[in-house]
Amino acid sequence: MFEVLQPAPPDPILGLTELFQRDRHPDKINLTTGVYKDESGNTPILNCVKQAERQLLEDEATKSYLGIAGLERLANLTREMVLGAGHEILDQDRVCGVQTPGGTGALRVAADFVATRFPNHSIWCSQPTWANHPNVFRAAGLNVENYPYLDAAGTGLDFAALRTQFTQIPEGDVLCLHACCHNPTGVDLQNDQWREIGEIIQERALIPLVDFAYQGFGDGLDEDATGVRELLRHVPEAMICTSFSKNFGLYSERVGALTVLAATQDAAGCVLSHLKSCVRSNYSNPPKHGAAIVTTVLEDATLRGVWEQELAGMRQRISDMRGQFVAGMQQQAPQHDLSFITNQRGMFSFSGLSPVQVDALRNEWSIYLVSSGRINVAGMTPQNMARLCEAVASVL
Ligand code: LMR
Repeated sequence: MFEVLQPAPPDPILGLTELFQRDRHPDKINLTTGVYKDESGNTPILNCVKQAERQLLEDEATKSYLGIAGLERLANLTREMVLGAGHEILDQDRVCGVQTPGGTGALRVAADFVATRFPNHSIWCSQPTWANHPNVFRAAGLNVENYPYLDAAGTGLDFAALRTQFTQIPEGDVLCLHACCHNPTGVDLQNDQWREIGEIIQERALIPLVDFAYQGFGDGLDEDATGVRELLRHVPEAMICTSFSKNFGLYSERVGALTVLAATQDAAGCVLSHLKSCVRSNYSNPPKHGAAIVTTVLEDATLRGVWEQELAGMRQRISDMRGQFVAGMQQQAPQHDLSFITNQRGMFSFSGLSPVQVDALRNEWSIYLVSSGRINVAGMTPQNMARLCEAVASVL
């Protein structure tokens, strides 16, 4: 049976890292996968994580299964991180959540839930969106549609086009939104736009599914959540997919959470039972170690303080790299204005480079970008900056 198969195409993001690893160029640069790198180009383990792991090594008494929903404390802490202390919804008791294997796991559980319980509803993704969104949603059985996102220049938001499309989406369909640090563009919605979207969603009875993979990587933990918090004031129901891969540097531990807002306390309880049923038939129950690390850090005031500082450090370094890249390009190619890159937020920047230019960077310079022109700004370092700017100028 297997002999009739043709090889599946490589993944447009993770597949490039495999190519990069095989490249022997001594000055190769990897700006593909959304993974944070420090000044030396390493992806560090955060100090708060190491300290939490030491505690866990001492205190952990069993490796028995977690429940189907995972660590309840993590689900509660996630909800507080998303909503912020004092959000009125926290008192209304109509939120439920499960711990998931990474943010992608949360997306998949949400997609399974929608596809199996509400089979005739489509999910709408921004054009462009994270390349894996359509894969995850289609694998769950959902029909995927697109809504416009970028303006004609490809560097800013076309909110008018987005709003017009939203007002035409059929009732009950799901809208996939990026809470902050839009992947792949770095172009985010402003707070008043979130409010407007919330009103449209409420009017048209749509369901927002918010991908919150980068909380803390834009302007700050609370600042990055302002839009979502505003949205949730306007909508009775929503799903929020959190990832701790980036803000805790816990990529390989696969830790995330799905938070669902329902209209009533009873409905939230009922939704939780359905989420558990989706989880059980997929991966049965989630892994514990990463979730225990995040819970340990968030519940300990000292460790939490260390984490917030380390997160601020990562955020600041990325922002510095944005500035240095734009300044470097200004020197190398003054006829091209790339200043829009400093307005973008998070790990990624949509450079405007075409697939041909991206290929030239890879073939001639061993510099790896996703073919859409997305740059992982976190892969830039003071050491590789000059070569990167020279290379980009040469292909522009
Ligand atoms: C990315 O967009 O590069 C990250 O979210 C990693 C991935 O799994 O694609």
